[in-house]
Amino acid sequence: MFDTCVMLNAAKLVLLFASLAFAISGLRPGLAANAVPQETPQYTSDGQLKFPEQYRTWVFLSAGMDMSYAGDAQTGNMHMFENVFVNAAAYESFQKTGTWPDKTTLVTEFRDAQGKGSINKHGRFQTDLMGYDVHVKDAKRFPGKWGFFGFNPGSKSSALIPATAACYTCHADHAAVDTTFVQFYPTLLPIAKRKGTLSSAYKKEN
Ligand code: HEC
Repeated sequence: MFDTCVMLNAAKLVLLFASLAFAISGLRPGLAANAVPQETPQYTSDGQLKFPEQYRTWVFLSAGMDMSYAGDAQTGNMHMFENVFVNAAAYESFQKTGTWPDKTTLVTEFRDAQGKGSINKHGRFQTDLMGYDVHVKDAKRFPGKWGFFGFNPGSKSSALIPATAACYTCHADHAAVDTTFVQFYPTLLPIAKRKGTLSSAYKKEN
C-alpha cells in the first residue's frame, strides 16, 4: 500500500515536471507570439496602424444607433449602428482605475441597420459592414497621447488622422474620460463616477 503511494507520488512528480517544462517552453517569445492574439497596437514600418483584426474577440462596450453629433445632416432612410469594442486588458485595467492604460485600443464598427428581413416586423437589426473608426492611446507616439484612424472594410492599415481634425477637438471637449465617450458606455460610466475620473469638460456639461 505504502509502496504504491510512493510510486503514485513519483508518477505525479514526473507529470508535474513535464507540465512545468511544457509551460516554460510556452513562454519562449516565438511560441508565445503565435499562441496569444496580439492585443497591443501594431504599426507598419511607415507608421500606419495595422487593423486590429481580432477586435471581435474583445469587450463590447455599447451599440449606438443613428447617433448624430452637433447638427450632422440626417441621411434620409439610411440607418446605422455603431458597435464599440475595447481590448480586454484595457477593460480590466479600467475596472480598477476608472481610466485607460497606455496601448488601449477602441474600435467603432459601423453597420447598416436594416428593418426588413426574415420574420422581423418592427425595429432594426445589423447587417453590412460599412467601416471603422479606431482610437489608440500610445503616449510615446502621439503628441496628445491618443491617435485617431479610419478604416474601410477589408483595409489592412491606415495613416494617422492629423491632429487638426475635428475628431480630436470634439473628443477633448465633450468626452467623459480621457477623451473617450464613457458617458455612452453603460458598464463604464458608474466606475468612472466612483473613481472620480470624469473629465472637467464632461462635468461642466452635466
Ligand atoms: C462632434 C463630436 C465628434 C466628432 C467630431 C468625432 N467624434 Fe468620435 N465619438 C463621438 C461620440 C459622441 C462618441 C460615442 C458614441 C458613439 O459611439 O458614437 C464617439 C466615439 C468614438 C469612438 C469610440 C471610442 C471612444 O473614443 O469613445 C471612436 C473610435 C471615434 N469616436 C472615432 C472618431 C474619429 C476617427 C473621428 C474623426 C474622423 C471622430 N470620432 C470624430 C463624437 C465625436
